[in-house]
Amino acid sequence: MAAMNTTATSASSLPLPRVAVLATGGTIAGSAPDAAQTAGYQAGVVGVDKLLAAVPALAGVAAVQAEQVASIDSKDLDFPLWNTLLARIHTLAAREDIDGIVITHGTDTLEETAYLLHLTVKTAKPVVLTAAMRPSSSLSADGPLNLLGAVTVAAARAAHGQGVLVAFNNRIHSARDIVKTSTYAVDAFQSHEVGVLGWVQDGRVEFQRTVVRPHTAATPFDAANGWPAVEIVASYAGASRTAVDALVAAGVRGIVVAGTGNGSIHATLQAALAQAAEQGVAVVRASRVGSGHVMHNGAAPDDALGFVSAGSLNPYKARVLLMLALAAGMKERTVLQLAFDTY
Ligand code: SIN
Repeated sequence: MAAMNTTATSASSLPLPRVAVLATGGTIAGSAPDAAQTAGYQAGVVGVDKLLAAVPALAGVAAVQAEQVASIDSKDLDFPLWNTLLARIHTLAAREDIDGIVITHGTDTLEETAYLLHLTVKTAKPVVLTAAMRPSSSLSADGPLNLLGAVTVAAARAAHGQGVLVAFNNRIHSARDIVKTSTYAVDAFQSHEVGVLGWVQDGRVEFQRTVVRPHTAATPFDAANGWPAVEIVASYAGASRTAVDALVAAGVRGIVVAGTGNGSIHATLQAALAQAAEQGVAVVRASRVGSGHVMHNGAAPDDALGFVSAGSLNPYKARVLLMLALAAGMKERTVLQLAFDTY
C-alpha cells in the first residue's frame, strides 16, 4: 500500500481541510497507448500519485494524502476489498487530522460499493466516491475534474452527515440513488426519479436536498458479520427454473430476482422462487427496468409467495442490502421487508 502526501495552504492562509484519497483502480486510473482511444485501454494501472499530480488545483482545496489500496478493474471487485476499504475508512475517519475521505473507483460496480459503504460506514465525516469514463491517457479525460470535485465535496462542511456521496460530472449524488446508465457516455450516472443531491463546480459545493433514509451510523449493519451467499437471477421470455434450482441446491441464503416491468416474474421462475422461499431462502423481487420502484404485492402477491419487494433498489443494490440484512440476523420475511422499506 503506497502512500503520498501533498500539503497545501489556502489563499487566506487558513488551514485547509485535510482529505485522504483511497485509490482502488478503475478507468480513472486507466491508460491506453493512444490518446484517441477511449474503449480499448487497461483500467487500474496508473498510480494515485500520478492522478493527483494531474490536478494542481487540488493544492488550493485541501491538504491531500493518498493511499493505493488496490489497482483493479472494478468488474473484479470482491468482498476482501470491501473489508479493506471499510477498515481504512474507519481508521482514517477516527483521526482528528482527517476531515474527509475520497475513494477513486471503477464506474462498473461503483453503485454497489457506494451503497455498501452508505449502509456500513460509521462516521459523519464525508466519504465521497468518484470515477471516470475515459482513461487518464485520453483526450478530454474526465478523471481529473471528477477528482477535484470529489475532494472539494469531501472538504466541505455541508457534506457532513449526508451519508456516502458520489461526485461525478459536477453532480453530487447519494450512494443509495446513483446508478450507472451508459456504457460509454461521460455523463454516465443518474439518480433516477429522485435526482441529484446537489452540485460541485468551480470550488462551490451546493446541496439542494438532504438524504431522508437512515444511513451510516444510523443502521445496524456491519460488514464484519460476513457475506451470506446471495445471487441474482433474471426473468425473461421463456425463463426456466434451472438457475433457481441450482442455487438452492448450492445452499444460497438469498436470491434477488430482476423481474420484468414492476418486478413481474415468468410463471415457471416464480413457482421455483416460491418453492425456494418455502425452503427458507430469502427471495427479493426487484426489477430489471432500471428506474421506478417495485410495489409490494403489486405485480406479484409477495405475501402469499413469501417474497420481499425491493422498492426503488435495483437488483445489484438489493443484493447488497439483502447480504447485510441476512448477516445482521434478519431472517423473517416481515423483518427483511421492513429493512427494504427503511434503508
Ligand atoms: C472499472 O469499472 O474499473 C472499469 C470501467 C470504468 O471505470 O469506467
